[in-house]
Amino acid sequence: MRRLTLTRPDDWHIHLRDGDYLSQTVKDAAARFGRAIVMPNLSPPVVNVQDAERYRTEILQHVPRSFAFEPLMTLYLTPQTVAADIVAAGQSPFIAGCKLYPAGATTNSEAGVSAITQLYPIFEAMQTANLPLLIHGEVTTHSVDIFDREARFIDESLAPLIQQFPELKVVFEHITTQEAAQFVADQGPEVAATITVHHLLYNRTDMLGSGMKPLLFCLPILKRDQHRQALLAAATSGNPAFFLGTDSAPHPRSSKENACGCAAGCYTAHAGIELYAEVFDAAGKLDRLEAFASHFGPDFYGLPRNPDKIVLEEIPWTAPKTLPFGNELLMPLRGGETIAWRLASQSMSSS
Ligand code: NCD
Ligand code: ZN
Repeated sequence: MRRLTLTRPDDWHIHLRDGDYLSQTVKDAAARFGRAIVMPNLSPPVVNVQDAERYRTEILQHVPRSFAFEPLMTLYLTPQTVAADIVAAGQSPFIAGCKLYPAGATTNSEAGVSAITQLYPIFEAMQTANLPLLIHGEVTTHSVDIFDREARFIDESLAPLIQQFPELKVVFEHITTQEAAQFVADQGPEVAATITVHHLLYNRTDMLGSGMKPLLFCLPILKRDQHRQALLAAATSGNPAFFLGTDSAPHPRSSKENACGCAAGCYTAHAGIELYAEVFDAAGKLDRLEAFASHFGPDFYGLPRNPDKIVLEEIPWTAPKTLPFGNELLMPLRGGETIAWRLASQSMSSS
């Protein structure tokens, strides 16, 4: 049996939700990751330091005693965001960045922005405060085909933004296309991207080719296999611009299996590092996993790497079909199916 010891990884993009949902989401994330960048798309969204600190306190109440999990908080940029919010965020030890959602792009993005250039004064303040900008990079124009929305965003919004703010740290979140991987590889050290494990594992034919699979529906949507392969090449390349962000995004079963519109988001936190190990191993690149999962993220954010380790073992296990989720059920990715790598019990204490 192969064993793999890694510096404890971090998740640079996760949705923990709030209220009753936190007991499951925080337990799963804290068992694997030392830190996680917590997305602010609650309803209502997390828009200022007070909201973020309240939310952080709520999350910390759900961290099991044996872990030293640190939630890194983000603010949700809206047309009402003012420079003073950014200055306050820059001074808070808990805020790691601000998230830009184009209005209508994804779950709980209604409060986002329609005209990105209107936020340029805010980006200026972020550049000064050295606060990273995390971007959901898709255009939302109805006439643009859903499979083309990320690539169009690069030319229409991202490239001009990066040109205007060359010192602003930008994370192009959950990239899904060859174009995005190439664009990020061509930029300087201020620009990075997170890559989810579901975009490394699956393509759009997996989602649509033999009965539509709501569990695989997320945004940005899964693309052709050539894009999955480009993401896999980027993730395993050793380029520090690409690092781990699960985008684990739970929805109750009733919202996923819903004939009136399946909610976008895949829950992967229950196997948040194990599935990446499987993908890297299948590509013959297991030796590149530690840098992608545990080094490049903290290096980009200017934070220390985690001091402790986790251990993975190549012992197949069957993921649960359902998990408790408030009064509802959550269907995790790969539920009822085998996952090739398992978290060893010694990983359970984060001392
Ligand atoms: C996310 C969610 O459910 O909050 N959904 C998703 O499909 N990834 C939002 C997001 O990151 O787009
Ligand atoms: Zn997300």
